[in-house]
Order: sequence, then C-alpha cells, then structure tokens
Amino acid sequence: MVDQDVVDEDLVDEDFIELDRVEKVFDVRKKTGFLKRERRQVRAVDAISFRVARGEMVGYIGPNGAGKSTTIKMLTGILTPSGGRLRVAGIDPSRERTRLAHRIGVVFGQRTTLWWDLPLIDSYRLMHRMYRIPDARYRANLGRLVEPLELGDLLDVPVRQLSLGQRMRGDIVAALLHDPEVLYLDEPTIGLDVVSKAKVRESLRELNAERGTTVLLTTHDLQDIEQLCSRVMVIDHGRLMYDGPLTGLHEVGQSERTLVVDLERELPPIEAPAPARVVRVEGPRQWLAFPASESAALLVARIAAEYPLVDLSVREPDIEAVIAKMYVEQAGKAVS
Ligand SMILES: Nc1ncnc2c1ncn2[C@@H]1O[C@H](COP(=O)(O)OP(=O)(O)O)[C@@H](O)[C@H]1O
Ligand SMILES: [Mg+2]
Repeated sequence: MVDQDVVDEDLVDEDFIELDRVEKVFDVRKKTGFLKRERRQVRAVDAISFRVARGEMVGYIGPNGAGKSTTIKMLTGILTPSGGRLRVAGIDPSRERTRLAHRIGVVFGQRTTLWWDLPLIDSYRLMHRMYRIPDARYRANLGRLVEPLELGDLLDVPVRQLSLGQRMRGDIVAALLHDPEVLYLDEPTIGLDVVSKAKVRESLRELNAERGTTVLLTTHDLQDIEQLCSRVMVIDHGRLMYDGPLTGLHEVGQSERTLVVDLERELPPIEAPAPARVVRVEGPRQWLAFPASESAALLVARIAAEYPLVDLSVREPDIEAVIAKMYVEQAGKAVS
C-alpha cells in the first residue's frame, strides 16, 4: 500500500491515462455442426498506445466492432488486457478495480446502472452509501447536477418510466455523484433526440471546463466530437489509426460534406467552383460534395447568386466513410 501511494504522488498529469501496446484477445467458440465447435481468436484491441493528460476531453471514435467498448472496459477494470501495460491515475485497473472505482465514473449508453423499478432518487441514495460519499458532498453534487440536466421533476419517477434521453441523463448524474477524476462515456448520445443530445453535450462541456474532469468519450456521432473534443483518436479493427485534432482527421481522410440544394425547377448540374462538384441530381434537387475542411458559406453564396434556390442543407461526413478512406490511404502507416 505504501508503495502505491508513492506511485500516485509521482504521477505526472500528462500520464493520467497510459496505455502501452495494450491488447485484448477474445477466445470465441463457434458452433459449426452437431457437437462440433471451432475455436477462433478475436483481436478486439491490437497493441494500442496512447496517453491522456489530466483535464483533457478526448473523443474515441470508430465503426461498430472497432474495439471501443473493449478499451473502455479495460480502463475500468471490467476486462483484463491480454497484453501490454495499462494505468489510470497510476492504478492497474484490473488488479485494483475497487480502488479505481472511487476515482472514475462510467456511463454505458447501451445499458443502465440505475435500478429499473426504483425511483431515480433511490438509485442515487444507494450510490451515496456504496461509495461512502460524505452527506454534504452528496447533497451538493446532487443539487449541482440535477438542475442543468433537468431531472429535478423526475427524481421520484421509476427508472423504467423514463425516456431514453432522461435515463441517459440520470446515468450521467449517477456516474458523477462521487466526484470522479475521470469520466468514461461509451456512446452516451446513441438513440437520443436532438434536445437530449444538446443537454448531454452542454453538461459534459461544463464538467470538463469547470471541474477539470478528464473525459474519454466514445461515439460514432462526429458532431459529439466536433462540439466537445479538441483531440480525437480513431480506432478500427482494434488498431489506433489516428490521434490528433479533428481538423487533421478531415485532412487525412480527405472527407467531404454534402450540400443538398433544392432549386425552383429541374436544371442541368450546377456549375460549382472546384473542388466542389455535383454528385447527384434528382429532379429539382442536387447534391454537391465539397471538402469538409472548407466553409459552406462561400459555396452557398455562389450558388444563390446564380441559381433559383428554394432550400438547402449541409450533411456532415459519415464517420465510417472517413475511416474507410483513411484505411485505404494510410494502410501500413498505423499510429501505434
Ligand atoms: N466478450 C466478448 N467475447 C468475444 N468477442 C467479443 C467480446 N466483446 C467484444 N468482442 C468482439 O471484439 C470486437 C470489438 O468489440 P467492441 O469493443 O464491442 O467494439 P465497439 O465498441 O467499437 O463497437 C468485436 O469484433 C466484438 O465482436
Ligand atoms: Mg461499443
């Protein structure tokens, strides 16, 4: 114990979360016939290395099955790595899961930590006791969290009667009652409506800015990242493909946004300034692709000046397309 306290004090803030060539291999047994099973190994996380500094807010993105949840589970100690070295606040998560639990908060978008049949407040009271949160701090935190997430009127409602968005916000409060230094969120905006998404994003921004909580956010919604994170890590097939600013990701992936234009009538393809170009025409509606790193305003102004415009909208690049492109262009140049 003495040794570990020394380790904690020596920990530099830059290395708050540390992964060195971390791996997770699952043994999967597949039924291939009557009494016949085939053993197969799935390398869900493949030699991933990164550092997260205290107070950072980092996006961790990638397509389905990329290894995001597996990484989060190793960071909480739920899963033990098959190889490599992993530390959170100087602690080896799988060896000291309980000690780490007091310092981290985790929200899994796909399942709740709240008690289904109990009123929301009862779950919080249970957390209060489970984490031995001092009474004054518990009350202060509850007050501070419940209001911005608009849960004040819902505390007496059983969790099963909450909407998905309300339940998610309820989960975020539960994860923060014990003042964790780091919060992991695994797809916290999945399935949420626009209003709920905005509330979740706003409270995360505040938490990070005002309390300096380190946040690791897993998502496949690029807008979550755009609005919250200055740094993004991309994982695909268990490997770290990119680690840097989001703008850099757009450059590396050469991703494009789409401008959807509704004209007054059917017209030949719009002559747009390169590299913008029409990629699809359907009656009076036309689709133009343009680099995601460029502003849409200029393009819109040019079109509006020369064409009878009725309506328009901009579509963000699809993260899977960005990553697919990166994969082709960066093959063999993985970060780790
Ligand atoms: N408990 C498990 N047993 C076997 N395979 C698993 C298990 N958990 C995840 N996997 C596999 O590991 C890979 C990564 O999964 P996951 O980390 O859940 O991806 P993501 O969260 O990015 O969608 C997938 O191929 C998935 O099928
Ligand atoms: Mg997942």
